[in-house]
Amino acid sequence: MTKKLWGGRFTGKTDPLMEEFNASIAFDRRLWQVDIQGSQAYARALVSAGLLTPGEGDMIVAGLEQVAQEWARGEFVIQAGDEDIHTANERRLTELIGPVAGKLHTGRSRNDQIATDVRLWLRGEIVQLRGHLHQLIGVALDRAAEEIDLLMPGYTHLQPAQPVRWSHWLLSHVWAWQRDADRLDELAARVNIMPLGSGALAGNPFAIDRARLADDLGFAGVTGNSMDGVSDRDFIVEFLFWATLTMVHLSRFAEDLIVYSSREFGFVTLADAYSTGSSLMPQKKNPDALELLRGKSGRMVGHLTGLVVTIKGLPSTYNKDLQEDKEPLFDAVTNISGSLQIACGVLSTLQVNPAAMRAALSPEMLATDLAEYLVRKGVPFRESHHIAGAAVQMAELQGVPLSQLMVEDLQKLHGAFEADAAAIWNFDQSVERRDVEGGTSRRAVLAQIARLRTWLDGK
Ligand code: ARG
Repeated sequence: MTKKLWGGRFTGKTDPLMEEFNASIAFDRRLWQVDIQGSQAYARALVSAGLLTPGEGDMIVAGLEQVAQEWARGEFVIQAGDEDIHTANERRLTELIGPVAGKLHTGRSRNDQIATDVRLWLRGEIVQLRGHLHQLIGVALDRAAEEIDLLMPGYTHLQPAQPVRWSHWLLSHVWAWQRDADRLDELAARVNIMPLGSGALAGNPFAIDRARLADDLGFAGVTGNSMDGVSDRDFIVEFLFWATLTMVHLSRFAEDLIVYSSREFGFVTLADAYSTGSSLMPQKKNPDALELLRGKSGRMVGHLTGLVVTIKGLPSTYNKDLQEDKEPLFDAVTNISGSLQIACGVLSTLQVNPAAMRAALSPEMLATDLAEYLVRKGVPFRESHHIAGAAVQMAELQGVPLSQLMVEDLQKLHGAFEADAAAIWNFDQSVERRDVEGGTSRRAVLAQIARLRTWLDGK
């Protein structure tokens, strides 16, 4: 058994079960690269502060480089007693360069080290996630532009409501993703702050130049209080909230597509690449990709809730409870990353069925337009709404679609109906009348696309 970093004051042995229970190497090994990056920068800071000679500093930096190469080549051997990634890297460094390695941890604690590592790591992951999200938005904008002429029923309460453009529906999800992208950029700025130099809790005693160290590591600034610096996990909570809300948006998008791809709707057909079959029923083609997007949102809510509860009652500064931040964070990053890429794949390969969308439009969805016709003739909306309702009832009694009512019948309901009422029964015109900013007319939808494109191009 190797000597423990903190072994000095202990005489008894650690229970092997406790050893395993305490260790985080199984999951925090994922941080190997940023841990080495942070240590190399810290070694340079120790040289500047006069605590290492330039020669010692070079030895440590080069030794750490060697450790990094072992990780990169998959040759790093984790040993019993490598409690966490910090311990493992330092143990290996000592084997490679000897006792001078023992100077690296001067004034540093694993408390400020882990907080720094996680921020560095998450910063890099955010860059990737941002790219995936932008790509999804880009694909959606292309589709929305290309398929601008397709009309489909819009729903409230999942009941047919009014005709809308398919692109308008698609963009309704894009706006949510755009907010997600903005939120990610905002929280990224709060991730990119450096706790290193906080020591265990009271601050570094060796006059480390923190601003310079932060600069070396590409951080935008340093934390303002060492006690807060080692215990602040707000940036992880914020990230988990972001991942949760983004997953909730993907889940709602997926749910719409699950419904639209059902045989009963048939508006879209999922590509085989994102569907699976049934082991029992040969005819089945299931939207598993979409169901997983919906399902994973629940897991994300769990991670967010779990971490907030973990932090809630903690006394000041570092407590080992904080080690529990990593698994939910890592899992969240893995799953949100996969989800964004799958959503993009599903959307870019999806086939639309314009005829089925058209066929699902029914004249009853223009009952509101009937009421609006009367409004344009000066009838108050409350009254015209009532009259349109009576028209729906009349059509039902006659057993004909609303559009087949004769103008004479309509005139029995209100004298304002004239021959031009026949023009109400046109889905395209109904859609075109909704020409306000944010509406579903062709012009308004193209304006949405332009606005989102400008935003995306500015990223
Ligand atoms: N593995 C620990 C964590 O993830 C690193 C910090 C340990 N600090 C300590 N004082 N035991 O939080």
